[in-house]
Amino acid sequence: MKIIMLGAPGAGKGTQAEKIAEKYQIPHISTGDIFRANIKNGTELGKKAKTYMDQGLLVPDELVVDLVVDRVQQEDCKKGYILDGFPRTIPQAEALDAALSANGEKIDYAVNVEVADENIINRMAGRRACLNCGATYHVVTIPPKEEGICDKCGNELVLREDDKPETVKKRLDVYHDQTQPLIEYYTAEKILVEVDGTKDMAEVFGDIVKVLGA
Ligand code: AP5
Ligand code: ZN
Repeated sequence: MKIIMLGAPGAGKGTQAEKIAEKYQIPHISTGDIFRANIKNGTELGKKAKTYMDQGLLVPDELVVDLVVDRVQQEDCKKGYILDGFPRTIPQAEALDAALSANGEKIDYAVNVEVADENIINRMAGRRACLNCGATYHVVTIPPKEEGICDKCGNELVLREDDKPETVKKRLDVYHDQTQPLIEYYTAEKILVEVDGTKDMAEVFGDIVKVLGA
C-alpha cells in the first residue's frame, strides 16, 4: 500500500504516519525528518535546507524530488510506504506520479488530515520532537512518559527551530499557497481521503484505518 499524508504543518501527519507505518509494516518516509537528520549531521544538503526551513519556506523542489524518488525505489519500499511531507507542491506531485508510472506503479491513497489554522498555533507551541528517531509528542495532549525524554529511544526532546509562532504563521501561508492545491490534484485522481484531524489521536487513526482496511 502506497500512501501520502497531506495536511497543514502541525495537522498531525507525522503522528499518524508513524502509527500507520507500524500497523501496516511499511517504511515511514518523512522529508522533514530527512532534512533535520542532514542538518544534525552537518551535510551539504542539511546546510542548504536549513536556510529555507528556518524561515518557514519550502526547500526548492530540485533538492527534494530526486531524494524521494530514489528512496521509494529501494528494496524495503516494494511492499509499500507512507510519504509524510511529500509531495508539497504540484511539480513534486507530478514528478512522483511520472516516476511511479514509469514502473507501472501508483499511489493508492492521499490522506488529508484537516485541522483549522487557529488550532495549529497551539499544537506547535506544545510540540516536542526527538531529533534522533523522529518521534513527536505534545506537552499537554501526547506527553512522553518521562518529561523531556523520548519514550522510544531515550533521547532528549526539543522544541523545533521552526515552531516559533512567527515562523509557524509563515509556514501556514506557504501551505495555503503551495501545498493546499494538492487536495484538488488528488481529488481529480480519485484517491483523496479526508479525515477530521481535530479529534483525538486514536480516533483520527481509527478513521484512517476504516478507509485503508484492517
Ligand atoms: P515537516 O517536518 O514536514 O513539517 P510540516 O509539514 O510543517 O509538518 P509538521 O512536522 O510540522 O507537522 P505534522 O503534521 O507532522 O504534525 P505532528 O504529527 O508533528 O517539514 C519541515 C520543513 O522541511 C518545511 O517547512 C520545509 O521547509 C521542509 N520540507 C519538508 N518536506 C519538504 C518538501 N517535500 N518540499 C519542500 N520542503 C520540504 O503534530 C503536531 C503536534 O500536535 C504534535 O505535538 C503532536 O503531538 C500533536 N498532535 C498530533 N495529533 C494530535 C491530535 N489528534 N490531537 C492533539 N494533538 C495532536
Ligand atoms: Zn526518539
